[in-house]
Amino acid sequence: MDQPFTTIIEPFRIHSVEPLRMTTADERALAIERAGFNLFNLHADDVLIDLLTDSGTGAMSRDQWAAIQHGDESYAGSPSWFRFEAAVKELFPFNHVIPTHQGRAAEKILFTVIGGAGKIVPNNTHFDTTRANVEATGAEARDMVIAEGHDAATIHPFKGNMDLAALEALLKDRAADIPVVFLTITNNSGGGQPVSLANIRGVSDICHEYGIPFFLDACRFAENAWFIHEREDGQSDRDVADIVREIASLADGMTMSAKKDPFGNIGGWLAMNDDSIAEKCRNILILTEGFPTYGGLAGRDLEAIAQGLKEAVQPDYLRYRIRSTAYLGDALDEAGVPVVKPIGGHAVYIDAKALLSHIQPLQYPGQALAIALYRTGGIRSCEIGSVMFGRQPDGSEKPAAMELVRLAIPRRTYTQSHIDYVIEVVTAVARAANSLPGYRMVEEPATLRHFTARFEPVA
Ligand SMILES: Cc1ncc(COP(=O)(O)O)c(C=O)c1O
Repeated sequence: MDQPFTTIIEPFRIHSVEPLRMTTADERALAIERAGFNLFNLHADDVLIDLLTDSGTGAMSRDQWAAIQHGDESYAGSPSWFRFEAAVKELFPFNHVIPTHQGRAAEKILFTVIGGAGKIVPNNTHFDTTRANVEATGAEARDMVIAEGHDAATIHPFKGNMDLAALEALLKDRAADIPVVFLTITNNSGGGQPVSLANIRGVSDICHEYGIPFFLDACRFAENAWFIHEREDGQSDRDVADIVREIASLADGMTMSAKKDPFGNIGGWLAMNDDSIAEKCRNILILTEGFPTYGGLAGRDLEAIAQGLKEAVQPDYLRYRIRSTAYLGDALDEAGVPVVKPIGGHAVYIDAKALLSHIQPLQYPGQALAIALYRTGGIRSCEIGSVMFGRQPDGSEKPAAMELVRLAIPRRTYTQSHIDYVIEVVTAVARAANSLPGYRMVEEPATLRHFTARFEPVA
Protein backbone atom coordinates (compact mmCIF):
# COMPACT_ATOMS: atom_id res chain seq x y z
CA MET A 1 0.00 0.00 0.00
CA ASP A 2 1.35 3.40 -0.96
CA GLN A 3 0.96 5.54 2.18
CA PRO A 4 3.23 7.66 4.37
CA PHE A 5 2.29 6.17 7.79
CA THR A 6 4.45 3.76 9.76
CA THR A 7 1.94 1.83 11.90
CA ILE A 8 1.85 -1.81 10.85
CA ILE A 9 -1.62 -2.62 9.62
CA GLU A 10 -2.67 -6.28 9.78
CA PRO A 11 -4.07 -6.81 6.25
CA PHE A 12 -7.13 -8.64 7.62
CA ARG A 13 -9.78 -8.17 10.27
CA ILE A 14 -10.77 -10.75 12.84
CA HIS A 15 -13.68 -13.00 11.99
CA SER A 16 -13.72 -15.56 14.78
CA VAL A 17 -11.82 -15.46 18.06
CA GLU A 18 -10.24 -17.93 20.47
CA PRO A 19 -10.23 -17.07 24.19
CA LEU A 20 -6.93 -16.83 26.09
CA ARG A 21 -6.76 -17.97 29.72
CA MET A 22 -4.97 -15.76 32.23
CA THR A 23 -2.89 -17.55 34.89
CA THR A 24 -1.10 -16.40 38.03
CA ALA A 25 2.66 -16.60 38.55
CA ASP A 26 2.08 -19.33 41.20
CA GLU A 27 0.01 -21.39 38.76
CA ARG A 28 2.72 -21.09 36.12
CA ALA A 29 5.48 -22.03 38.58
CA LEU A 30 3.56 -25.21 39.42
CA ALA A 31 2.73 -25.97 35.77
CA ILE A 32 6.35 -25.74 34.59
CA GLU A 33 7.61 -27.86 37.49
CA ARG A 34 5.00 -30.54 36.68
CA ALA A 35 6.14 -30.35 33.04
CA GLY A 36 9.70 -31.29 34.11
CA PHE A 37 10.78 -27.76 33.10
CA ASN A 38 10.17 -28.65 29.46
CA LEU A 39 7.84 -26.23 27.67
CA PHE A 40 6.75 -28.94 25.23
CA ASN A 41 5.16 -30.77 28.20
CA LEU A 42 2.88 -27.87 29.21
CA HIS A 43 -0.88 -27.97 28.75
CA ALA A 44 -1.46 -25.28 26.11
CA ASP A 45 -4.35 -23.85 28.17
CA ASP A 46 -1.69 -22.78 30.68
CA VAL A 47 0.08 -20.68 28.02
CA LEU A 48 -0.95 -17.08 27.36
CA ILE A 49 1.07 -16.20 24.24
CA ASP A 50 2.28 -19.29 22.42
CA LEU A 51 5.44 -18.57 20.44
CA LEU A 52 6.70 -22.16 20.60
CA THR A 53 6.38 -22.51 16.85
CA ASP A 54 4.96 -20.97 13.70
CA SER A 55 4.21 -24.51 12.48
CA GLY A 56 0.54 -25.35 11.98
CA THR A 57 -0.43 -22.52 14.33
CA GLY A 58 -1.43 -19.86 11.79
CA ALA A 59 -4.97 -18.57 11.44
CA MET A 60 -6.72 -19.83 8.32
CA SER A 61 -8.54 -17.36 6.13
CA ARG A 62 -12.25 -17.19 5.28
CA ASP A 63 -11.33 -18.51 1.83
CA GLN A 64 -9.43 -21.47 3.30
CA TRP A 65 -12.43 -22.43 5.47
CA ALA A 66 -14.63 -22.10 2.39
CA ALA A 67 -12.22 -24.30 0.41
CA ILE A 68 -12.44 -26.93 3.17
CA GLN A 69 -16.13 -27.32 2.28
CA HIS A 70 -14.99 -28.47 -1.16
CA GLY A 71 -12.89 -31.23 0.40
CA ASP A 72 -13.54 -34.47 -1.47
CA GLU A 73 -12.58 -37.53 0.54
CA SER A 74 -12.37 -40.05 -2.34
CA TYR A 75 -9.58 -42.51 -1.57
CA ALA A 76 -8.06 -42.19 -5.05
CA GLY A 77 -8.15 -39.37 -7.60
CA SER A 78 -9.98 -36.83 -5.43
CA PRO A 79 -10.58 -33.44 -7.11
CA SER A 80 -9.03 -31.93 -3.97
CA TRP A 81 -5.77 -33.70 -4.86
CA PHE A 82 -5.80 -32.23 -8.36
CA ARG A 83 -6.39 -28.73 -6.98
CA PHE A 84 -3.53 -29.26 -4.49
CA GLU A 85 -1.17 -30.59 -7.14
CA ALA A 86 -1.96 -27.67 -9.49
CA ALA A 87 -1.40 -25.12 -6.71
CA VAL A 88 1.96 -26.69 -5.79
CA LYS A 89 3.07 -26.88 -9.44
CA GLU A 90 2.03 -23.26 -10.05
CA LEU A 91 4.94 -22.28 -7.79
CA PHE A 92 7.14 -25.41 -7.86
CA PRO A 93 6.75 -27.07 -11.26
CA PHE A 94 8.55 -30.32 -10.42
CA ASN A 95 7.47 -33.44 -12.35
CA HIS A 96 6.44 -35.40 -9.26
CA VAL A 97 4.52 -34.08 -6.25
CA ILE A 98 4.10 -36.55 -3.40
CA PRO A 99 1.81 -35.39 -0.58
CA THR A 100 2.75 -36.20 3.04
CA HIS A 101 1.16 -35.49 6.40
CA GLN A 102 3.96 -33.08 7.31
CA GLY A 103 7.51 -32.09 6.43
CA ARG A 104 9.37 -34.74 8.40
CA ALA A 105 7.44 -37.51 6.63
CA ALA A 106 8.79 -36.16 3.33
CA GLU A 107 12.30 -36.14 4.86
CA LYS A 108 11.94 -39.67 6.23
CA ILE A 109 10.85 -41.03 2.84
CA LEU A 110 13.54 -39.22 0.85
CA PHE A 111 16.44 -40.12 3.14
CA THR A 112 15.27 -43.73 3.42
CA VAL A 113 15.69 -43.88 -0.37
CA ILE A 114 18.92 -41.88 -0.83
CA GLY A 115 20.64 -41.83 2.60
CA GLY A 116 22.83 -44.49 4.21
CA ALA A 117 26.07 -45.06 6.10
CA GLY A 118 29.13 -43.30 4.72
CA LYS A 119 27.10 -40.62 2.95
CA ILE A 120 27.17 -36.88 3.66
CA VAL A 121 24.24 -34.50 3.25
CA PRO A 122 25.33 -30.84 3.15
CA ASN A 123 22.82 -28.12 4.07
CA ASN A 124 23.19 -24.47 5.12
CA THR A 125 21.82 -25.55 8.54
CA HIS A 126 19.81 -28.72 9.02
CA PHE A 127 16.57 -28.30 10.89
CA ASP A 128 16.32 -30.74 13.83
CA THR A 129 13.98 -33.25 12.12
CA THR A 130 16.03 -33.09 8.91
CA ARG A 131 19.23 -33.78 10.82
CA ALA A 132 17.57 -36.63 12.74
CA ASN A 133 16.21 -38.20 9.55
CA VAL A 134 19.60 -37.98 7.80
CA GLU A 135 21.42 -39.42 10.85
CA ALA A 136 18.82 -42.18 11.30
CA THR A 137 20.08 -43.69 8.02
CA GLY A 138 23.70 -43.61 9.22
CA ALA A 139 24.59 -40.63 6.99
CA GLU A 140 26.27 -37.45 8.21
CA ALA A 141 24.30 -34.17 8.25
CA ARG A 142 26.86 -31.42 7.58
CA ASP A 143 26.02 -27.73 8.17
CA MET A 144 27.79 -25.34 5.80
CA VAL A 145 26.29 -21.90 6.36
CA ILE A 146 28.54 -18.85 5.75
CA ALA A 147 30.65 -17.70 8.72
CA GLU A 148 28.36 -14.68 9.31
CA GLY A 149 25.53 -17.14 9.93
CA HIS A 150 27.25 -18.33 13.13
CA ASP A 151 27.56 -14.89 14.65
CA ALA A 152 24.37 -13.53 16.18
CA ALA A 153 25.50 -9.90 16.03
CA THR A 154 26.91 -9.66 12.48
CA ILE A 155 24.64 -7.84 10.05
CA HIS A 156 24.38 -9.47 6.61
CA PRO A 157 21.35 -9.34 4.31
CA PHE A 158 21.45 -13.08 3.57
CA LYS A 159 22.89 -14.77 6.62
CA GLY A 160 21.34 -18.08 5.58
CA ASN A 161 23.64 -18.35 2.54
CA MET A 162 25.64 -21.52 1.94
CA ASP A 163 29.43 -21.26 2.06
CA LEU A 164 29.96 -21.91 -1.66
CA ALA A 165 33.74 -22.34 -1.46
CA ALA A 166 33.41 -24.96 1.29
CA LEU A 167 30.63 -26.72 -0.64
CA GLU A 168 32.72 -26.86 -3.80
CA ALA A 169 35.74 -28.20 -1.88
CA LEU A 170 33.58 -30.91 -0.30
CA LEU A 171 32.03 -31.94 -3.60
CA LYS A 172 35.45 -32.05 -5.29
CA ASP A 173 36.65 -34.42 -2.61
CA ARG A 174 33.59 -36.55 -1.82
CA ALA A 175 31.08 -36.21 -4.69
CA ALA A 176 30.53 -39.97 -4.81
CA ASP A 177 29.33 -39.97 -1.17
CA ILE A 178 26.92 -37.06 -1.52
CA PRO A 179 23.43 -38.15 -2.58
CA VAL A 180 21.91 -34.65 -2.39
CA VAL A 181 22.71 -31.09 -1.34
CA PHE A 182 20.03 -29.25 0.63
CA LEU A 183 19.35 -25.58 1.20
CA THR A 184 16.89 -24.53 3.92
CA ILE A 185 14.95 -21.38 2.99
CA THR A 186 14.73 -19.49 5.26
CA ASN A 187 17.36 -20.98 7.55
CA ASN A 188 15.25 -21.80 10.61
CA SER A 189 17.92 -23.19 12.95
CA GLY A 190 20.29 -20.38 11.95
CA GLY A 191 17.97 -17.55 13.01
CA GLY A 192 15.30 -17.61 10.28
CA GLN A 193 17.75 -15.90 7.95
CA PRO A 194 17.15 -15.79 4.19
CA VAL A 195 19.24 -17.16 1.34
CA SER A 196 19.87 -14.90 -1.67
CA LEU A 197 18.86 -15.83 -5.20
CA ALA A 198 22.53 -15.48 -6.22
CA ASN A 199 23.53 -18.00 -3.54
CA ILE A 200 20.76 -20.42 -4.56
CA ARG A 201 22.04 -20.12 -8.14
CA GLY A 202 25.59 -20.70 -6.91
CA VAL A 203 24.62 -23.89 -5.04
CA SER A 204 22.68 -25.08 -8.09
CA ASP A 205 25.65 -24.49 -10.42
CA ILE A 206 28.10 -26.31 -8.15
CA CYS A 207 25.74 -29.28 -7.67
CA HIS A 208 25.08 -29.59 -11.36
CA GLU A 209 28.78 -29.37 -12.21
CA TYR A 210 29.30 -32.45 -10.02
CA GLY A 211 26.05 -34.18 -11.10
CA ILE A 212 24.50 -34.06 -7.61
CA PRO A 213 20.79 -33.34 -7.05
CA PHE A 214 19.98 -30.07 -5.33
CA PHE A 215 16.92 -29.98 -3.04
CA LEU A 216 15.20 -27.19 -1.14
CA ASP A 217 13.80 -27.47 2.37
CA ALA A 218 11.29 -24.82 1.39
CA CYS A 219 8.95 -24.39 4.41
CA ARG A 220 9.36 -20.61 4.40
CA PHE A 221 9.85 -20.08 0.67
CA ALA A 222 7.50 -17.06 0.50
CA GLU A 223 9.20 -15.22 3.36
CA ASN A 224 12.56 -15.99 1.74
CA ALA A 225 11.31 -14.70 -1.62
CA TRP A 226 10.08 -11.51 0.07
CA PHE A 227 13.57 -10.89 1.51
CA ILE A 228 15.00 -11.39 -1.99
CA HIS A 229 12.41 -8.90 -3.30
CA GLU A 230 13.37 -6.37 -0.61
CA ARG A 231 17.12 -6.86 -0.35
CA GLU A 232 18.62 -8.23 -3.54
CA ASP A 233 19.70 -6.03 -6.44
CA GLY A 234 17.33 -6.07 -9.39
CA GLN A 235 14.55 -8.01 -7.63
CA SER A 236 12.28 -5.28 -6.24
CA ASP A 237 10.03 -4.99 -9.31
CA ARG A 238 9.37 -8.71 -9.57
CA ASP A 239 6.28 -10.59 -8.59
CA VAL A 240 6.96 -12.75 -5.51
CA ALA A 241 5.50 -15.82 -7.23
CA ASP A 242 7.97 -15.30 -10.11
CA ILE A 243 10.89 -15.23 -7.70
CA VAL A 244 9.60 -18.48 -6.15
CA ARG A 245 9.35 -20.10 -9.59
CA GLU A 246 12.91 -19.05 -10.39
CA ILE A 247 14.12 -20.58 -7.10
CA ALA A 248 12.28 -23.81 -7.97
CA SER A 249 13.77 -23.84 -11.48
CA LEU A 250 17.28 -23.94 -9.97
CA ALA A 251 16.52 -27.04 -7.87
CA ASP A 252 15.84 -30.71 -8.62
CA GLY A 253 13.37 -31.25 -5.83
CA MET A 254 12.13 -30.19 -2.43
CA THR A 255 10.79 -31.25 0.93
CA MET A 256 8.04 -29.14 2.37
CA SER A 257 6.10 -28.58 5.55
CA ALA A 258 2.84 -26.94 4.51
CA LYS A 259 2.34 -25.96 8.17
CA LYS A 260 4.45 -22.84 7.67
CA ASP A 261 4.09 -20.41 4.73
CA PRO A 262 1.13 -22.23 3.07
CA PHE A 263 -1.08 -21.72 6.19
CA GLY A 264 -1.89 -25.41 6.67
CA ASN A 265 -2.65 -26.73 10.14
CA ILE A 266 -1.17 -29.99 8.85
CA GLY A 267 0.42 -31.16 5.59
CA GLY A 268 3.53 -31.31 3.49
CA TRP A 269 4.99 -32.73 0.34
CA LEU A 270 8.03 -34.13 -1.39
CA ALA A 271 8.61 -33.08 -5.00
CA MET A 272 11.27 -33.88 -7.55
CA ASN A 273 12.06 -34.33 -11.23
CA ASP A 274 13.82 -37.72 -11.05
CA ASP A 275 11.42 -40.52 -12.10
CA SER A 276 13.27 -43.39 -10.49
CA ILE A 277 13.72 -41.77 -7.04
CA ALA A 278 10.08 -40.63 -7.18
CA GLU A 279 8.91 -44.18 -7.80
CA LYS A 280 10.88 -45.49 -4.82
CA CYS A 281 9.52 -42.68 -2.65
CA ARG A 282 5.93 -43.40 -3.72
CA ASN A 283 6.38 -47.04 -2.79
CA ILE A 284 7.38 -46.04 0.74
CA LEU A 285 4.58 -43.45 0.81
CA ILE A 286 2.01 -46.18 0.23
CA LEU A 287 3.44 -48.18 3.14
CA THR A 288 3.67 -45.30 5.60
CA GLU A 289 1.44 -42.38 4.60
CA GLY A 290 -1.24 -43.48 2.15
CA PHE A 291 -2.22 -43.55 -1.49
CA PRO A 292 -0.26 -41.08 -3.70
CA THR A 293 -3.26 -38.79 -4.24
CA TYR A 294 -3.74 -38.06 -0.54
CA GLY A 295 -0.55 -39.16 1.28
CA GLY A 296 -1.70 -38.92 4.88
CA LEU A 297 -3.98 -35.92 4.36
CA ALA A 298 -7.73 -35.53 4.20
CA GLY A 299 -9.16 -33.96 1.03
CA ARG A 300 -10.12 -30.92 3.11
CA ASP A 301 -6.47 -30.45 4.18
CA LEU A 302 -5.37 -30.54 0.54
CA GLU A 303 -7.95 -27.82 -0.23
CA ALA A 304 -6.81 -25.60 2.66
CA ILE A 305 -3.19 -25.81 1.50
CA ALA A 306 -4.07 -25.16 -2.16
CA GLN A 307 -5.83 -21.93 -1.14
CA GLY A 308 -3.12 -21.07 1.43
CA LEU A 309 -0.43 -21.23 -1.24
CA LYS A 310 -2.18 -18.48 -3.18
CA GLU A 311 -2.36 -16.27 -0.06
CA ALA A 312 1.25 -16.94 0.97
CA VAL A 313 2.73 -14.97 -1.95
CA GLN A 314 0.50 -11.87 -1.63
CA PRO A 315 2.74 -8.78 -1.21
CA ASP A 316 0.47 -6.97 1.33
CA TYR A 317 0.53 -10.04 3.54
CA LEU A 318 4.30 -10.58 3.22
CA ARG A 319 5.07 -6.92 3.87
CA TYR A 320 3.00 -7.08 7.07
CA ARG A 321 4.46 -10.46 8.05
CA ILE A 322 8.10 -9.45 7.79
CA ARG A 323 7.58 -5.98 9.26
CA SER A 324 5.63 -7.27 12.24
CA THR A 325 8.37 -9.78 13.08
CA ALA A 326 10.94 -6.98 12.80
CA TYR A 327 8.74 -4.83 15.09
CA LEU A 328 9.27 -7.31 17.93
CA GLY A 329 12.97 -7.81 17.17
CA ASP A 330 13.76 -4.11 16.83
CA ALA A 331 11.97 -3.28 20.10
CA LEU A 332 13.97 -5.95 21.97
CA ASP A 333 17.18 -4.74 20.35
CA GLU A 334 16.44 -1.16 21.42
CA ALA A 335 15.77 -2.41 24.96
CA GLY A 336 19.27 -3.93 25.01
CA VAL A 337 18.20 -7.59 24.66
CA PRO A 338 20.76 -9.39 22.46
CA VAL A 339 18.95 -10.75 19.39
CA VAL A 340 20.11 -12.34 16.14
CA LYS A 341 20.40 -9.57 13.58
CA PRO A 342 19.05 -8.70 11.15
CA ILE A 343 15.66 -9.94 12.34
CA GLY A 344 14.56 -13.10 10.49
CA GLY A 345 11.25 -13.83 8.81
CA HIS A 346 9.16 -15.98 11.10
CA ALA A 347 10.79 -15.49 14.47
CA VAL A 348 12.97 -13.40 16.73
CA TYR A 349 15.93 -15.28 18.19
CA ILE A 350 17.33 -14.14 21.53
CA ASP A 351 21.02 -14.80 22.07
CA ALA A 352 20.85 -16.60 25.42
CA LYS A 353 24.62 -17.18 25.47
CA ALA A 354 25.16 -13.42 25.56
CA LEU A 355 22.28 -12.64 27.93
CA LEU A 356 22.95 -15.47 30.43
CA SER A 357 26.73 -15.59 30.20
CA HIS A 358 26.91 -16.85 33.81
CA ILE A 359 25.32 -20.19 32.74
CA GLN A 360 27.57 -22.83 31.11
CA PRO A 361 26.33 -24.07 27.68
CA LEU A 362 25.70 -27.56 29.08
CA GLN A 363 23.58 -26.07 31.84
CA TYR A 364 21.41 -24.81 29.00
CA PRO A 365 21.13 -20.99 29.09
CA GLY A 366 18.45 -21.09 26.37
CA GLN A 367 16.28 -23.46 28.39
CA ALA A 368 16.79 -21.26 31.48
CA LEU A 369 15.61 -18.19 29.56
CA ALA A 370 12.63 -19.97 27.99
CA ILE A 371 11.49 -21.17 31.44
CA ALA A 372 11.83 -17.65 32.85
CA LEU A 373 9.72 -16.16 30.03
CA TYR A 374 6.99 -18.64 30.80
CA ARG A 375 7.10 -18.18 34.56
CA THR A 376 7.14 -14.39 34.29
CA GLY A 377 4.54 -13.80 31.60
CA GLY A 378 3.04 -17.07 30.35
CA ILE A 379 5.01 -16.83 27.08
CA ARG A 380 6.03 -20.12 25.53
CA SER A 381 9.19 -20.04 23.38
CA CYS A 382 11.61 -22.67 22.12
CA GLU A 383 15.25 -23.36 22.97
CA ILE A 384 17.42 -23.79 19.89
CA GLY A 385 20.79 -24.59 21.38
CA SER A 386 22.53 -27.33 23.34
CA VAL A 387 19.29 -28.97 24.47
CA MET A 388 18.19 -29.36 20.84
CA PHE A 389 21.57 -30.07 19.25
CA GLY A 390 23.99 -31.02 22.08
CA ARG A 391 23.74 -34.82 21.85
CA GLN A 392 26.13 -36.18 19.19
CA PRO A 393 25.62 -39.30 17.04
CA ASP A 394 28.52 -40.98 18.95
CA GLY A 395 26.68 -40.46 22.27
CA SER A 396 28.84 -37.61 23.57
CA GLU A 397 27.43 -34.21 24.48
CA LYS A 398 28.91 -30.96 23.22
CA PRO A 399 27.73 -27.33 23.22
CA ALA A 400 25.80 -26.18 20.14
CA ALA A 401 27.23 -23.40 17.94
CA MET A 402 24.67 -20.93 19.32
CA GLU A 403 22.39 -20.84 22.38
CA LEU A 404 19.20 -19.27 21.06
CA VAL A 405 15.65 -18.85 22.28
CA ARG A 406 13.21 -18.60 19.42
CA LEU A 407 10.08 -16.49 19.67
CA ALA A 408 8.24 -17.86 16.62
CA ILE A 409 5.31 -15.80 15.42
CA PRO A 410 2.26 -17.79 14.27
CA ARG A 411 0.90 -16.33 11.03
CA ARG A 412 -2.04 -13.87 11.24
CA THR A 413 -2.70 -14.95 14.86
CA TYR A 414 -1.52 -12.33 17.35
CA THR A 415 -2.11 -8.57 17.21
CA GLN A 416 0.31 -5.77 17.91
CA SER A 417 -0.89 -5.47 21.54
CA HIS A 418 -0.04 -9.14 22.15
CA ILE A 419 3.43 -8.40 20.81
CA ASP A 420 3.73 -5.24 22.94
CA TYR A 421 3.04 -7.44 25.96
CA VAL A 422 5.77 -9.88 24.83
CA ILE A 423 8.22 -6.98 24.54
CA GLU A 424 7.42 -5.92 28.12
CA VAL A 425 7.85 -9.42 29.54
CA VAL A 426 11.10 -10.19 27.69
CA THR A 427 12.57 -6.85 28.73
CA ALA A 428 11.69 -7.50 32.39
CA VAL A 429 13.22 -11.00 32.29
CA ALA A 430 16.36 -9.67 30.58
CA ARG A 431 16.85 -7.12 33.36
CA ALA A 432 16.89 -9.93 35.94
CA ALA A 433 18.87 -12.36 33.77
CA ASN A 434 21.81 -12.61 36.20
CA SER A 435 19.62 -14.24 38.83
CA LEU A 436 18.39 -17.12 36.60
CA PRO A 437 19.66 -20.64 37.37
CA GLY A 438 21.01 -23.18 34.88
CA TYR A 439 19.39 -26.61 34.42
CA ARG A 440 20.48 -30.24 34.28
CA MET A 441 18.74 -32.87 32.18
CA VAL A 442 17.39 -35.69 34.34
CA GLU A 443 15.53 -37.72 31.69
CA GLU A 444 16.53 -37.98 28.04
CA PRO A 445 15.01 -39.95 25.15
CA ALA A 446 17.20 -41.54 22.47
CA THR A 447 16.41 -39.08 19.64
CA LEU A 448 15.07 -35.51 19.33
CA ARG A 449 15.55 -35.18 23.07
CA HIS A 450 14.28 -31.61 23.36
CA PHE A 451 10.68 -32.71 22.80
CA THR A 452 10.37 -34.91 25.90
CA ALA A 453 13.46 -34.49 28.13
CA ARG A 454 12.91 -33.47 31.76
CA PHE A 455 15.07 -30.99 33.69
CA GLU A 456 15.87 -29.76 37.20
CA PRO A 457 17.28 -26.38 38.18
CA VAL A 458 20.94 -26.42 39.25
CA ALA A 459 21.20 -25.19 42.82
C1 LIG B 1 13.19 -25.81 8.17
C2 LIG B 1 12.26 -26.92 8.57
N1 LIG B 1 12.35 -28.10 7.97
C3 LIG B 1 11.54 -29.13 8.27
C4 LIG B 1 10.57 -29.00 9.25
C5 LIG B 1 9.70 -30.19 9.60
O1 LIG B 1 8.39 -29.98 9.26
P1 LIG B 1 7.19 -30.65 10.09
O2 LIG B 1 7.17 -30.03 11.43
O3 LIG B 1 5.97 -30.35 9.27
O4 LIG B 1 7.46 -32.12 10.16
C6 LIG B 1 10.45 -27.79 9.92
C7 LIG B 1 9.44 -27.63 10.99
O5 LIG B 1 9.48 -26.77 11.84
C8 LIG B 1 11.31 -26.71 9.57
O6 LIG B 1 11.23 -25.51 10.17
